[in-house]
Amino acid sequence: MHLTRDEESILAGERGPGMQRAMEILVALGRIYDADSLVPITSAHLSGVSYKTIGEGGIDFLEEISKDARVKVETTLNPAGMDLSRWQEMGVEEAFAKRQLTIIKAYGNMGVTTNCTCTPYFTGNSPKPGESVAWAESSALSYVNSVLGARTNREGGPGALAAAIIGKTPHYGLHLDENRRPTVVIEAEVQDEITDYSLLGHVVGQRLGAAVPYFKGIKPDCNGLKTMAAAMAASGSVAIFHVEGVTPRSLDCDLKGLERVRLDRQDIRKAKESLTTGKDPDLIAVGCPHLSQMEMKALASMLDGKRPRSDSPEVWFCTSRTVRTWCPKETAVLERFGKVVCDTCMIVAPIESRHECTATNSAKACTYLPSLCSQKVVCGSYAELMERVA
Ligand code: F3S
Repeated sequence: MHLTRDEESILAGERGPGMQRAMEILVALGRIYDADSLVPITSAHLSGVSYKTIGEGGIDFLEEISKDARVKVETTLNPAGMDLSRWQEMGVEEAFAKRQLTIIKAYGNMGVTTNCTCTPYFTGNSPKPGESVAWAESSALSYVNSVLGARTNREGGPGALAAAIIGKTPHYGLHLDENRRPTVVIEAEVQDEITDYSLLGHVVGQRLGAAVPYFKGIKPDCNGLKTMAAAMAASGSVAIFHVEGVTPRSLDCDLKGLERVRLDRQDIRKAKESLTTGKDPDLIAVGCPHLSQMEMKALASMLDGKRPRSDSPEVWFCTSRTVRTWCPKETAVLERFGKVVCDTCMIVAPIESRHECTATNSAKACTYLPSLCSQKVVCGSYAELMERVA
């Protein structure tokens, strides 16, 4: 990989050990993936925030690099292991909370915005078409590539942080036109409903792995797109997709000679059944990825004027702090039935210490709840889940 004189000097440690460490990470990634150079980025989004996932090893790395390194571009953070202000109400132990706050402090010291959400594109960090960025969090980076038309590889936490510190990322993979083209056409016939889009994404990721799907026959809005992106990245490793007439420049894609796969409501029904492993949830958690303003309004209007059921399980509505601030009326309605939880989610919070069976409408959450949170799972639509609540 070609390095400029300035980049060589950073690698040699002339700008301090933090920047040197960051450049070492980028050079190592560039060599592995055969990048030709480093390309400037306009933003970064970092995963590796929850104490549950990064542990003491992650804290050591962050404390070391944050001694003298600062981010050069707008940089946002993925969800942490708890609501940073209401962690006691979530039943999080003090020892966990202390270590979580140490992580947030280290990121804050580097100039990272510590508003922890996996949908930063709804709240300000929204790259423009054609821009190169370095995003971790598989659902968010797929949304950025597919819906916003910016360019990022499927970064890990350290790679995205290193890119944020240097302001550049290795030029390979999805920064190149040839790797963004569709490789398979999906002719889909599903209900125009957010959970069905999530399940459609689940089936596509499961069957096709790391393909670049081109969808025909569906017209998801931004909420359907975010949940599809999340599910495809979790069950497969899809990092970019196209939807005919919906995502940018989809009508310019060349589909000649591509394999075609038909998916219909039967496939969606079977996926829902296969993800459901439990029966009686003691937690209902929605907002994977984090709820948008529109979803907060839709959920509040489903519940407004109703009474909480006496046998309702605990309920979490997971969203960003910014969206919660934008939705005071909806938050007041939802808080009568559960908690509007910010900065965290049902996967990266330590729910396994208090819950055994979780219900959700997100296929991504259904995929990870058994392995990362030791949960049995109930998969249901918003309407089905809210029936258990009110
Ligand atoms: Fe976001 Fe957590 Fe789902 S980070 S995409 S809500 S697993």
